Amino acid sequence: MPDLSTTYLGLKLKNPIIASSSTLTDNVESVKNLAKNGASAVVLRSIFEEEITMEAEHYVKEAINSGYDESLFDYFDSRVKQHNVEQYLDLLLELRRHVTIPIIGSINAVTNHEWMYFAKKMEANGADALELNLFLMPSHLNRTCEETEKIYFDIINKLTSEISIPVTLKISHYFSNLASVIKKLSETNIKGLVLFNKFFSPDFDIEEEKLISTYVLSNPQDLAMSLRWIAMMSDRVSCDLVASTGIHDGAGVIKQLLAGAKAVQVASTLYKNGPEQIGAMLRDLEEWMNRKGYKSINDFRGKLSYGKVKDPALLERVQFMKYFNL
Ligand SMILES: Cc1cc2nc3c(=O)[nH]c(=O)nc-3n(C[C@H](O)[C@H](O)[C@H](O)COP(=O)(O)O)c2cc1C
Repeated sequence: MPDLSTTYLGLKLKNPIIASSSTLTDNVESVKNLAKNGASAVVLRSIFEEEITMEAEHYVKEAINSGYDESLFDYFDSRVKQHNVEQYLDLLLELRRHVTIPIIGSINAVTNHEWMYFAKKMEANGADALELNLFLMPSHLNRTCEETEKIYFDIINKLTSEISIPVTLKISHYFSNLASVIKKLSETNIKGLVLFNKFFSPDFDIEEEKLISTYVLSNPQDLAMSLRWIAMMSDRVSCDLVASTGIHDGAGVIKQLLAGAKAVQVASTLYKNGPEQIGAMLRDLEEWMNRKGYKSINDFRGKLSYGKVKDPALLERVQFMKYFNL
């Protein structure tokens, strides 16, 4: 039996498959079921910074009044109020009693201070780590890249000075110099980076002539973005990298480990195939390792990362004439 264990954020994981933050991780029964099916850790559904929530509530109401579809705002739980925060903290306490795998709390934030006390409370209630889902759409016309990046660094500095559990940052790929930002972020006090978050995809309903949301769940083809960046950065960063988005099967897990990921996070495949999919992915990983003669994940982790492949141009170039010559 190959050893599937790995480490992430200093936590020992029995295998590299973590259940991502989603509605599947917002109640005890579902988390127990994920753990039973082999998840090595879970990231709880995000609690949104209250300020954002208030803004979101206002924004959602305004948008709905002007004819937009409420489902567009899936990620904005406009009902989040203090009692939801308390429920969240209770959930952590409850989970501590029922599951032994690491529980990672999750906060979705965009400003610097309002929500810091949630983080402290999560730590006090037994979270093993905290994932910060931080996203600022770079759509401001008057904000420079440096100003946007500074917001990230200010939040990280403040948060990591206030809590002592490991912090990991879930980011998007919307940065003008992504490699440089990933490297700089990895050199802060965070212990991990999750590449990448997935957002709702806007679309237009051409009959109704309105904005709609499509593709809440990912597809296996969506793997390429995180695969490229994990492979590109895993040799060059000072913290753990975890892959997220588009990992649907055992092959997806193996690819991300070959790229250099410490672990992977999965959500869509669990919605599509049920939590049993974790077991199927683990069996595929085990079978592949046996076939290849690998005894542990470290035997092959990062084997196809930027620093180790013969032709890193394949990672660097997005357009190759020969591939477009169909
Ligand atoms: C229904 C649903 C709810 C989600 N809620 C959250 C959330 O609260 N916080 C968060 O960081 N990500 C959330 N996500 C994003 C997932 O954690 C994950 O990053 C994304 O779905 C991409 O991974 P996948 O391809 O495995 O689905 C949610 C995803 C789905 C499908």
